[in-house]
Amino acid sequence: MEFSINPVSPDKATANSLLVPVFGDKLSSGLEKLDQATAGALSALLAGGELAAKAGSVLTSHVPLAGRLVRVTLLQWGEQPQAADLRTAAAAGARALLAGKSTDADVLLALPKGIDSSEVIAALAQAVVVEQYRFDDFKSNPDPRPALTHVNFAVARKSDVALAEAGLARGEAVGHGMNLTRQLGNLPANVCTPTYLAEEALRLGKQQGLKVQVLDQPELEKLGMGSFLAVAKGSVEPPKLIVLEYRNGKKGAKPVVLVGKGITFDSGGISLKPGEGMDEMKYDMCGAATVLGTMQAAAQLALPINLVGVIATCENMPAGNANKPGDIIKSMAGLSIEVLNTDAEGRLILCDALTYAARFEPETVIDIATLTGACIIALGHVATGLYANDETLADELLQAADHTGDKAWRLPLWDDYQEQLKSNFADLANIGGRPAGSVTAACFLARFTKDYRWAHLDIAGTAWKSGAAKGATGRPVPLLVEFLSGRARQGSAKKTK
Ligand code: BES
Ligand code: MN
Ligand code: ZN
Repeated sequence: MEFSINPVSPDKATANSLLVPVFGDKLSSGLEKLDQATAGALSALLAGGELAAKAGSVLTSHVPLAGRLVRVTLLQWGEQPQAADLRTAAAAGARALLAGKSTDADVLLALPKGIDSSEVIAALAQAVVVEQYRFDDFKSNPDPRPALTHVNFAVARKSDVALAEAGLARGEAVGHGMNLTRQLGNLPANVCTPTYLAEEALRLGKQQGLKVQVLDQPELEKLGMGSFLAVAKGSVEPPKLIVLEYRNGKKGAKPVVLVGKGITFDSGGISLKPGEGMDEMKYDMCGAATVLGTMQAAAQLALPINLVGVIATCENMPAGNANKPGDIIKSMAGLSIEVLNTDAEGRLILCDALTYAARFEPETVIDIATLTGACIIALGHVATGLYANDETLADELLQAADHTGDKAWRLPLWDDYQEQLKSNFADLANIGGRPAGSVTAACFLARFTKDYRWAHLDIAGTAWKSGAAKGATGRPVPLLVEFLSGRARQGSAKKTK
């Protein structure tokens, strides 16, 4: 999709599709000329009452304009749109544009006062990029792609262009970041292996100028990553620890480190999962995919920050040499772990990746993981589970979630829960029983993150959809890009505690 920003006098729009904003029950001011040029067709359409008052309602019709018929979509933003209305309307507008046969569209931006046009443009650009994504790589006869190839944001004035450009850049970067995350999530586990993820990281590094390092099994052994390797050993696919570095902040400023769970297939291992729905465990690398999508967006936006990505990736498979219930393994941090359930493997690979993260002297570490089914029970598919050992960090992330609508909800890390992780035979067990399963998983990770400011995002419920619209969502890329943009605005990093 090609985007542009060019002021266009509404009555002189040349695109064969127009997106016309409506706020409440009237055309926004600035569109009277266009209305006149269509011989009043627009106001007549509105007066017809078929466009509902709810944000996201659309009404598409063909109207005469300058001797031709133009496809016009009236898009309702709501009388006094809130942030959520903007997102709803942007998604609906994007779908309406993509549904037509038109190849180019002018988005008219005669916006009432108080509505930030760069926010509207960001939301629309992001929505167009996300809505046009299809995962049809394996279909012999895929549905035809949308005809639309060019969207122009017809800002009202030349002076609006700079602000509009910033919004467009943000929307595009987040949209493409989400699509990268979705693509990797959607790819089946026989294609998207740990080796494939490592190659993707190298490709991304080349494209965006990131330093990328891939550590193989012998190096993981040397590092003492006994916990990570215990999970990996039942699979014929070799494990990888992928490290990406984007350094565009102040020299010497401590980085934010993103740590991703990259289980390319989670069968459960010897504690085998039931067969039904097991295909969805190809998505168990969405934390890793989120790290890649977020880093791509940060680099594309040239955010002035230092950012490191650490991805632990392997398969969790049953085998004659697989990790077994009762096995006691040694983590890189030195803590011994009794494996009571091989299906609680995410925390076993993450604990070593989190220990490794300390070598970057991080300002903040955030891990992203499809960690627990219990998080879905707690929060459903609406909110990501957020845990943090620092109040300011938790607030920053919640604010970013609120701002983007990429919702998150904080859950506790109280020491009371550590009781449940006691083992008779090792320093800790890898499961804490059924009560508060998402919390005890986070509390397990907390044992390995005492030396830095840390947050954990449990995205088991939000990273993908089941059912008819089965597929990866690209969450929480918007949340993380917003968080990092906030850091970029803040400028220099804070002191590590
Ligand atoms: N990858 C799963 C978590 C998961 C389950 C994500 C369902 C999305 C949907 C994780 O590795 C896992 O299996 N967790 C277990 C932990 C349990 C054994 C303590 C779970 O949630 O059942
Ligand atoms: Mn599992
Ligand atoms: Zn898993």
